[in-house]
Amino acid sequence: AIDPNFDQNREPVGEENGVTVWGPVDEPEQLGIHGTHVAVDYDICIADGACLENCPVDVFTWVDTPGHPASEEKVEPTHEDQCIDCMLCVDICPVDAIDVDGS
Ligand code: SF4
Ligand code: F3S
Repeated sequence: AIDPNFDQNREPVGEENGVTVWGPVDEPEQLGIHGTHVAVDYDICIADGACLENCPVDVFTWVDTPGHPASEEKVEPTHEDQCIDCMLCVDICPVDAIDVDGS
């Protein structure tokens, strides 16, 4: 599961699609955690899609991650600033890849 204390245990290494990326990153096999308020561990996400399909405010967008061992697509929390903290994505993800502040 995603480390809920990632913001203390990892360092920000850059930005993609407007969201912070927390390392370590070693493309294409290791992609780190994307987002801060809504955070997705790209190394755990298997592209199930339930988060994206069910988020009431459409926080997520698909991105291609060719060559990643867990899945070749991931969800970017592109609109994390719109999150209403309903926690649906945290509860629904089958591999616990998402952390939302307060969860
Ligand atoms: Fe969307 Fe709710 Fe997850 Fe926020 S907590 S990203 S509003 S599903
Ligand atoms: Fe990935 Fe979990 Fe969403 S596997 S696509 S973060 S439901």
